[in-house]
Amino acid sequence: MKKTVQQSEKEAAKVVKNTRRDFISKSALLGAGMAATPMAFAQGTTSGKTKSVDATAAPKKRMLGTLEVSPIGLGCMSMKSGSYNPPRDQKDMIPVIRGAVDMGVTFFDTAEVYGPFTDEELVGEALAPVRDQVVIASKFGFDFSNGNRAGRNSRPEHIRTAVEGMLKRLRTDRIDLLYLHRLDPEVPIEDVAGTVKELIQEGKALHFGLSEVSPKTIRKAHAEQKVAALQSEYSLIQRALENEVIDTCGELGIGFVPWGPVCRGFLGDKFNEYSRFSDDSRFAAVPYFTPEAIKAHMEVLVLVREWARKKNATPAQISLAWLLAQKPYIVPIPGTTKLHHVEENMGAMDISFTNGELKEFRASLEKISLVGVRQPESALIDQ
Ligand SMILES: NC(=O)c1ccc[n+]([C@@H]2O[C@H](COP(=O)([O-])OP(=O)(O)OC[C@H]3O[C@@H](n4cnc5c(N)ncnc54)[C@H](OP(=O)(O)O)[C@@H]3O)[C@@H](O)[C@H]2O)c1
Repeated sequence: MKKTVQQSEKEAAKVVKNTRRDFISKSALLGAGMAATPMAFAQGTTSGKTKSVDATAAPKKRMLGTLEVSPIGLGCMSMKSGSYNPPRDQKDMIPVIRGAVDMGVTFFDTAEVYGPFTDEELVGEALAPVRDQVVIASKFGFDFSNGNRAGRNSRPEHIRTAVEGMLKRLRTDRIDLLYLHRLDPEVPIEDVAGTVKELIQEGKALHFGLSEVSPKTIRKAHAEQKVAALQSEYSLIQRALENEVIDTCGELGIGFVPWGPVCRGFLGDKFNEYSRFSDDSRFAAVPYFTPEAIKAHMEVLVLVREWARKKNATPAQISLAWLLAQKPYIVPIPGTTKLHHVEENMGAMDISFTNGELKEFRASLEKISLVGVRQPESALIDQ
């Protein structure tokens, strides 16, 4: 039998409380100074020890164009669609999303294609009780056939149909940040931007985003409808978008949202040089997860671990803090299925680097040869 929102809220509060207690007993490192939220789901429980749930702390915010978000968001892709893990049950993922709200996350990332559709349903149910306190981002750009992705499609009429479906699944009357997921080579970007502009005028979307497009396409789209955010892959290992794409965003006042900010778990110390993936794993097709690449990138992880020791932090926190330190308009969206990883990732907001430290970090990084990563030229081409 389906649970009511109230039942789910109670359940979420119980899990949040237990997870938090467990976390506090295990770690004194994390979570200091996180943004405050109205404690929507935790029913007033406070840890007393960590600042992660301190409702009196000043909220930390970043801007994506004119859209205000928490400096670190939550990527929800792998929750129900199970991209990097077996698909998780909605009832188990709702407490993760709601727990993130209580920890100060206000920025949630999903897409029509995750599942497809199921991930948006999860996000919609989880955030319905706090809809007005959070920013929901979703993406269109694909056709679907028999429940599977079937090529790109950004024809104006298709975008409109997609958005109607998104609104239903997300249980909302507007999508705060509506992204084009991948450019459709058959549809001029001006037509896509023009359609989103109409949707914004109708109040069905509030801000426009792009994903994995070139600086040329960003400029063309921005001329038609102001772009709030570009979402593309960026991490200590995947740095192809430095500097042209990221600088274009800065010049135009567009926020940059790195996906894959902990390199799909690698920078969270999830793998080692002996990790191997079966053919049906999503990692098997990723060129920077071949045995040779993993071995080479262990050097990056060793460097990140060194900085983690110096800063009394974890490798994931260092990887996210490094991204935050690159530009004030960068807002990473680490994906996770675990509430304790949300809390750990939010702890990155309290780690800072001096200019000297950033130079030293980069000098070490540039000495490491990367394998299977995107080349800088690829940043100039729509993906
Ligand atoms: N625009 C696009 O084309 C595009 C493409 C891909 C993804 N995205 C979006 O970007 C989000 C993030 O990207 P991503 O999920 O591909 O990569 P990611 O955030 O770099 O990595 C996610 C993986 O890292 C692990 N992880 C997260 N925090 C961790 C921590 N503190 N310690 C150890 N492991 C940790 C997660 O495992 P656990 O579940 O075990 O924590 C998960 O398997 C996605 O959720 C999605 O919303 C967008």
